[in-house]
Amino acid sequence: MRYFSLMLFVFCQFSCNQQQENERIVLQNQIDSLRSRLDSSYTPGLGEFMSSIQVHHAKLWFAGKNSNWDLADFEMGEIRETIADINKYCTNRPEITSLPMIEPSLDSLTTAITRKNIESFKNSFTLLTNTCNSCHKVTKHSFNVIKIPDIPPVTNQVFENPNP
Ligand code: HEC
Repeated sequence: MRYFSLMLFVFCQFSCNQQQENERIVLQNQIDSLRSRLDSSYTPGLGEFMSSIQVHHAKLWFAGKNSNWDLADFEMGEIRETIADINKYCTNRPEITSLPMIEPSLDSLTTAITRKNIESFKNSFTLLTNTCNSCHKVTKHSFNVIKIPDIPPVTNQVFENPNP
């Protein structure tokens, strides 16, 4: 009887360990499959983020120029969000160490927008545009020249202040 109990105990131990090992293998397979899905998941490149900034830069100009301060403030938020995304998703690009140079011009635009001051908005916007180009120069992309836009980037959005 004693012998039988001992055998039963050993057998239980063995099957228990076997079950744990099986569960470990299943979990490891799940981790491996999630890892490979992460590696192949799509993240936008720096050029795509820049194209987005380009549109917000243009919209910001027409918003500010028309004293549409709520829209201008919104466009600033979009630019700042895109910069945060660049810092998060483009860590493989050495150029992003130059990104902080854009901050002073963004801060000065925020001040101009808060004060609803069109002259200081225009000056700060020029500073921002010059900074885009300075960064393109230091990152060897001086062929990407940004300027203050002449016409709105889209025709299906109103830039005038709807609640003057
Ligand atoms: C880190 C410094 C830096 C700053 C600041 C910066 N850029 Fe760029 N920009 C780059 C780099 C690097 C590229 C090239 C990206 C690539 O390899 O696709 C680029 C590319 C671009 C492009 C070309 C995108 C394309 O694929 O056609 C545009 C447009 C652009 N930037 C607009 C702007 C605007 C507008 C600003 C300012 C509001 C700005 N950038 C600020 C570094 C910067």
